This record gives sequence, C-alpha cells and structure tokens, in this order.
Amino acid sequence: RIAGPSVLVLFGVTGDLARKKLLPAIYDLANRGLLPPGFGLVGFARRDWEDQDFAAQAHEAVREHARTPFREDVWRQLSEGVRFVSGELNDDAAFDELARTVRALDADRGTGGNYAFYLSLPPKLFPTVVKQLKRSNLAESEDGAWRRVIIEKPFGHDLESARELNAVVDDVFPPQSVFRIDHYLGKETVQNIMALRFANTLFEPLWNRNYVDHVQITMAEDIGVGGRAGYYDGIGAARDVIQNHLLQLLALVAMEEPVTFSADSIRTEKQKVLEAVELPEDLATGTARGQYAAGWQGGMYVPGYLEEEGIPANSITETYAALKLGVNSRRWAGVPFYLRTGKRLGRRVTEVALVFQRAPHQVFSSVDVEDLGQNSLVLRIQPDEGVTLRFGSKVPGASMEVRDVTMDFAYGQSFTEASPEAYERLILDVLIGDPPLFPRQEEVELSWQILDPIEEYWAKEGRPEQYEAGTWGPQSGHELLARDGRQWRRP
Ligand code: BG6
Repeated sequence: RIAGPSVLVLFGVTGDLARKKLLPAIYDLANRGLLPPGFGLVGFARRDWEDQDFAAQAHEAVREHARTPFREDVWRQLSEGVRFVSGELNDDAAFDELARTVRALDADRGTGGNYAFYLSLPPKLFPTVVKQLKRSNLAESEDGAWRRVIIEKPFGHDLESARELNAVVDDVFPPQSVFRIDHYLGKETVQNIMALRFANTLFEPLWNRNYVDHVQITMAEDIGVGGRAGYYDGIGAARDVIQNHLLQLLALVAMEEPVTFSADSIRTEKQKVLEAVELPEDLATGTARGQYAAGWQGGMYVPGYLEEEGIPANSITETYAALKLGVNSRRWAGVPFYLRTGKRLGRRVTEVALVFQRAPHQVFSSVDVEDLGQNSLVLRIQPDEGVTLRFGSKVPGASMEVRDVTMDFAYGQSFTEASPEAYERLILDVLIGDPPLFPRQEEVELSWQILDPIEEYWAKEGRPEQYEAGTWGPQSGHELLARDGRQWRRP
C-alpha cells in the first residue's frame, strides 16, 4: 500500500496540529517509502512566507516530532516538492495563486492532478475554504484524477450545526471524497479491537450480555487545557472527546461482525450500535461532570481550570465527563457501558475494559473470595499498548487461596515494528482513497443525537463539581458506578 502521485494542500500550516502531528507524519510516510516521488506538499496560510520559509518550518517540526530517524536524502526529496501560498482565506487572488501552484507542481513533479485538501482549521472557516476551492476549480476532478477533502473534528457542536457544516461540504464534494478524521481510529490499538474480536474464536463467545457484567471505557489525560483555552472553553470534555473518540470506541466494541472489511460494511455495523444507544433514564444520576481545581500532579503544583490563561473565571465548561449508556440490542441489552474522560486526572491512560460477571457459584468456600476481583479483559489503547486478561489463580501454598493475576500481551514485546502515528495511517489512507477508518456523516449525527440532551441538561445545571488535579475525578463520577454496586478500575 503506497500512495500514488498526489498533492496534499494543507490549510492551517502554522497551527499546533500541523507542527506536532501532520508535518512529522508526512515525513514519516516518506521515510517509510510510502509516498511516491510524484508527491507535493502545499502550505496555505496568512504568513508572508516563501516556499523555503515553509520548508524550514516543516524541517523544524520534523526534527522535533517525527517518529522515524531523520534522513537527509528523504528530506531533500520531500522538500523539493514543498510550496507555500500566502493569503487570506477569503481572497480570490490567493486561491487563484493556489490553483496555479498545484498545477505547476503537476508539471514539475508529476503529481497526476490528484489533490487532497486538509482543512486543519476551525470549522467556522470551512464554508469559506470549500467555496474558494469550488470557485478556483480545484474541487472538481478532471480527466480521471481525484479530489478529496479532509476535515478535522469538531464536526459542529451539536446536531444542528453538524448538519449545517455537512451541507456546506456536501455542496462541493461528493460523500466519497470527504474524509472526516477521528484520529483514534488511526491508532493501531483501536484497529486491533476488530482483529481481536473477529480474527479469533476465543473472545467472541463471551462478548455479550450472558457473560459481560459491564464495560468501562476510559480516556484519562494528565495534561490540562494548556494553550487551547480558545478552542476548549464552551466545548468541554464531552464534546471534545466523547462525541467522537469514545463513542467510536464503544461502537467498535459493541458492533456485530461486518460482512466484509469494506468501509460500507464496517460503518454500517458501527452505525447500528450508535442507533441502539440508550441514554440513562435519569440524567442526574446517569451522568457526571467535573472541572479540575488546582492540585499536585507529577510532582508539580498545577493551576485549576478557572485560573488557566484565557479561561473566564465563571466558566461552567466541564473538563471531566462520565456517562452510563445502554445498547439496545440482543447482544447487549441490560449491560451498562460506562464512559469517562477528563483532563488533569491521575495519569494518561486510555483503555476499554470488559468486566465479566462473577462465577455463579464458588466452590472455594473455605477461602474468603468476597474480595476476588471479577475477570476482565482490558484493551490497553495507550500509552502501554497491549491487552490484559485478569483472572483468579491459586496462590502457591498449603491453602486453597485464590488471587487475581494477569496475563499480558504487550506490543513492544510481541512486535519489533514500531506502531505508526495515527495521523500517518490516516493521511496515507486518504491519499490511497481507503475510507474504512473515517466516520461517515450518519455516525457524526447519531453521536450528536446522543450527546445533545445531555449537554442541554448540563447547561441548565450550571457549575460542574470541582475535582483536585491529579485525582481520578469528581465524587459524582465515582458515585455513577457506586450506585450500581460497581467501581471504576484504577488503571
Ligand atoms: C483530541 C482532543 O481529539 O484528542 C484533545 O481534542 C485531546 O483535547 C487529544 O488532548 C488526545 O489525543 P491522544 O491521541 O493524545 O489521546
């Protein structure tokens, strides 16, 4: 799988995402031999840069953030195809210049007239850009060449705005040319959920309401809001990551086996899960929300959310969110899916845990098995990638004491290949035109449909509960499970 001749046009090249993820990912693809000689990269931004200034910025980003070692020859080959166009997004002349630049690249590098436009921009700017692409005849494919557009979340901030946004993009690009990035789907460990379930016989017989007591999906971060106050405030944890990353994880865990590994089959199965998601009857007890207060983390005293730069002192934005959802299907009826995410939590970890029912009868009557944990299968998404199976085992010795032990699969031990960065995989898939890892609009809308009533309820509730930085979230988050006689795992 190698990309064919093509040009990637990057809007928002001076942003954080481009510097930390996109430019390094493009270099890593080149370094792995996955980009053809006929590849061009065009940056578009307001800066008054020449091609070489952009190339110098890209070079710096690559040196700092690329996963693969730096190789002068690879960089030289790549940088010869780097161009920059300076201008405002609403400036017709700048887009005419962009059109001239990509067409000149076709001639210089043999890029085949295939263009992908990466909108690494706030969504409010999408309408301007797609209209400009249409106006300057860049959006419409000619002579069998392709045109694709890549958009980054947030895909709106509720169902209505997501539909409006889609209408704007849909007006210019046909659905099969629109690639919506949810970078979690590009992670190896997330793709492995399907491999684990459908390439094996061991797990699937247990993967249902007859054996699974509940499912916990955790995405915990130790970082705070950092320099992203402008984006994050008013959005909050649920819109930022539950609407996309966590609901996608839920869909992959709960879905039926797709008929084939094609994009349509996979997306259809995920969509069925999202359609079957059921909200808690009482949002007061079935959801929890928090906002980090100052505290100690990693040996440092860190400020609370309201003290962060750019955050209004009366902000009611949540930095922690937890939900209890159901999935109304024969496989999952009655099994709660608990989702939680937060910033400034105990440590950075993302995992999916299937917690199994306890044995219906214990023969070890002489031993105190009350405390014996439940069997669980933990899919460790990051950072310690792997899978853990947890079960009880006899403690060596004269008595019949049983204790929980774990059996581990670790990527680092089983594979010598380093995992590519999520963005590498996703950019490659766009250039190849392979859509399974990109959610379609229906999934985006269904996810907002799940979240909208919760957001509405929270907005009325006012201020979220505070939790100390470095802890595992607000009391209400713990109560969400305690009420059901369960508790969050301590990853
Ligand atoms: C992004 C969110 O989608 O994911 C961020 O907007 C979050 O708030 C980030 O920090 C986490 O990504 P990862 O890959 O580091 O888990």
